[in-house]
Amino acid sequence: MIQVFAHRGASGNHPENSLSAISAALDVDVDGIELDVQSCHDDYAIIHDTWLDRTTNGRGMVRDATREMLNALDAGNGEGIPTLQNVFDLIGTKATINLELKHTYSLDKFVQYIENNINAGVIERSQLILSSFDHHQLVWLKQKLPWVKIGALTASIPLNYAEFAQKLHAYSIHMDKNFINHEFVLDAKQRGLQVYAYTVDKQRDIELVLDMGVDGIFSNYPCHAKMAINRF
Ligand code: G3P
Ligand code: CA
Repeated sequence: MIQVFAHRGASGNHPENSLSAISAALDVDVDGIELDVQSCHDDYAIIHDTWLDRTTNGRGMVRDATREMLNALDAGNGEGIPTLQNVFDLIGTKATINLELKHTYSLDKFVQYIENNINAGVIERSQLILSSFDHHQLVWLKQKLPWVKIGALTASIPLNYAEFAQKLHAYSIHMDKNFINHEFVLDAKQRGLQVYAYTVDKQRDIELVLDMGVDGIFSNYPCHAKMAINRF
């Protein structure tokens, strides 16, 4: 089964990384939901950019704002910026949660946060994927949480990338749809890795990456993506 991940939630029709985007994704029974995590001054915020300016009516850097300051902002359609806890509470065990670490600091605290939610039964180990473009972070996270599924995230294909992911004991490789090729997918699969493509919205692009043998896609329009996959 090809896995469909809602990219920043169902962000094609809802504010990205918002609770409504997550709910819409759950409504269409996605396999997973991809969300971006940034550290703010005293919590973890679900927002893509380092700066507040593009997606909210606030200004400045996310990391300088307290949770209370972020709560006062509009991140689209009158919705606020979710916290990591909001996301865990909403998704729970209904879908895989793929957290992409952006500027996420105090990783010890982040790991503790995850463990607390697992111990409390809010989320399940098997339904969590951690990814990051910062491969040092991935290595560190896998050492701290040996059980966690690591999504080795790349915007290109660095030399020996599948080998790196295998050595890291990653679960999956998440890569830009424009860099995927048959040979790479085959190599990754032979190493026991899942290959997921981002961000794939158009029918033609979906067909292209499926043809290359990917195991899953990230889409801003997960409902359309599911239909396109069924037609393939
Ligand atoms: O995780 C895949 C994809 O979301 C990475 O790029 O910029 O959309 O976070 P970006
Ligand atoms: Ca992302």
